[in-house]
Amino acid sequence: MKIYAIVLAAGKGTRMNSNKPKVVHEVLYKPMINHVVDELKAMGVDETIVVVGHEAQQVIDIVDDVTFVHQKEQLGTGHAVLQAYDLLKDKEGITIVLNGDAPLVRKETLQGLIDYHKENGNQGTVMSCDCDLSLPFGRIIKEGSQVTGIVEFKDLLESQNHITEMNVGEYCFDNKALFEAINKVTTNNAQNEYYITDVIGIMNNDGLKVDAYKIEDFNEVGGINDRVQLAEATESLKLRINKNHLLNGINIIDINNTYIGREVVIGEETTIEPGCIIKGKTVIGNHCHIGPYCEFDNVTIKDNVEIKFSVISDSIIESGTDIGPYARLRTQCHIHENVHMGNFVEMKKADFGKGSKAAHLTYIGDAIVGENVNIGCGTISVNYDGKNKSLTKIEDNAFIGCNSNLVAPVTVKKNAFIAAGSTITKDVEEDAMGIARAKQVNKDGYSKVLKERREKKFEEKKKG
Ligand code: UD1
Ligand code: CA
Repeated sequence: MKIYAIVLAAGKGTRMNSNKPKVVHEVLYKPMINHVVDELKAMGVDETIVVVGHEAQQVIDIVDDVTFVHQKEQLGTGHAVLQAYDLLKDKEGITIVLNGDAPLVRKETLQGLIDYHKENGNQGTVMSCDCDLSLPFGRIIKEGSQVTGIVEFKDLLESQNHITEMNVGEYCFDNKALFEAINKVTTNNAQNEYYITDVIGIMNNDGLKVDAYKIEDFNEVGGINDRVQLAEATESLKLRINKNHLLNGINIIDINNTYIGREVVIGEETTIEPGCIIKGKTVIGNHCHIGPYCEFDNVTIKDNVEIKFSVISDSIIESGTDIGPYARLRTQCHIHENVHMGNFVEMKKADFGKGSKAAHLTYIGDAIVGENVNIGCGTISVNYDGKNKSLTKIEDNAFIGCNSNLVAPVTVKKNAFIAAGSTITKDVEEDAMGIARAKQVNKDGYSKVLKERREKKFEEKKKG
C-alpha cells in the first residue's frame, strides 16, 4: 500500500518574532522542516508533499526530494491540506498529515501510527497524548474508542474543559476518505479558519471508523510556537540523543554540555568530552577521544583518532591521527593515518599524507603533502596571489624548516630539505636542499660599538 505524507509548513509563526518562517528555525543546528522530512525519508514514504506559504522560497531552498504545494493565504490547517487535493485526491493508499512545527517526532512513532491505523481498519486516526489542562491544544472527544470529533481550545465548551486527551497534530487517513471529507470543512468556528481537525468529526458523521493512537512522550510532539519552546526542543532532543549514545556504549562525560546532531554516527568505546558540537553527516569511528571543545560539521573520522579544541568541517580524518589543541580544518581536507597535527594549525583543501607532521602554527591550503613529511613551525603555503589559488606539492619524506613560505605553484620533491626561514618560489628537486634567505654576516665586537653609540645619544639628549 502506498504511503503519502503532507507536511504543513505554510504558517508564519507569529510568536517566533522573526522574519523567517517558523519551520526554518533550527533545533539542534537543523531546521525544523528538515527534521520532519528526514524522518519521512528514513521511513520510506512514497511521496512527501510540503505545504509552503509564508516566505515559501526560504523553505524550498533548504528541502530536497519533496513536492511543494503553495498555500497563498493561510486560512487554516484544513485549507493547507486542501492544497494537495489535485495531487492526491484519486490515489489509493494512506496519507499521514503532520504539523511542520513538531520536529522531534520519531519515525518509529509515525510508523506506530500507521500500523495502528491499519491493524484497526480505521479510515482516520489521530495521534493523541494526555496533556496538562492548561495547554491550548485541541481536545479529543470520544464515544468508546470511536473519536467523534476534535474541539479546538478556543472553541471548548465548559463541559469539555476537563478532557486531558489532546490532539498533537499528527494524523493518518485513508487517502480518498481524507479528500472527500476535506471538501466539507467550513470556517464555522472561533478563529474563522478551516481546521484539519474538523475532518475527524466529518468522517465520524459519515459513519467511518475514527480512532486515536495515544502516545506517552509529549516531548516528541509538543510543537514549537515561540523561541522558548524552540530552545526547550533543542534541550530535549540533545538529551534524547546523548542518552541513546550512552546506551550504545559511547562515553559522554557531560550530557548537558554536548550537542550531537540526529544523523551523527559514533562508534564503540569512543569518548566525547564536554563542550563539543557535532553536527551534519558526521561519522566518528571506534575508540576515538573527542574534545573537550570541538566543533565538527560533516566530518568522517576513522578509528583511534584523538582531537581536542578544534574546528573541523567537510573533511576526512583517517585512523591513528591526533589533532589539536586549536586546529582548524575546512573544505575537503583528507588527513591520512597516523598524522600528528598540533597547536594552531589551519588546513584547507589539503591532502596530508600518512605519518606526516605539522605540529605548530602552520597554514596549509590547496596542497598535496606526501608521507612522513615534517612541516616546521610557522610554515605557510602561499596559495593566493589576490586572484588565483595555486597548488603546493610536498613529496614523501621532505623536511620543511621552520618559518618557510612555499609560494605556489611549487613542488618540493622527495627527501628534499628546506632551510628554515626560506621563501621558496622555485621547485626543489629530489634529495636537494632549498635555501632562500639573506646570508648571515657576523661582525666581531660590533655589539659593543652599538652599545656605546646608544649611550652617547642618551647623554646628548639629557643635556638638551
Ligand atoms: C494545531 C491543531 C490543534 C493541535 C495542535 C498541536 C488545528 C486547527 N489545530 O493547532 O488541535 O492540538 O496543532 O500542536 O489544526 N499551517 C499551515 N497553514 C495554515 C495554518 C497552519 O500550513 O493556514 C501549519 C503551520 O505552519 C504549522 C502547522 O500548520 O506548522 C500547525 O499550525 P498551528 O497554527 O501552529 O496550529 P495550532 O494552533 O498549534
Ligand atoms: Ca502549533
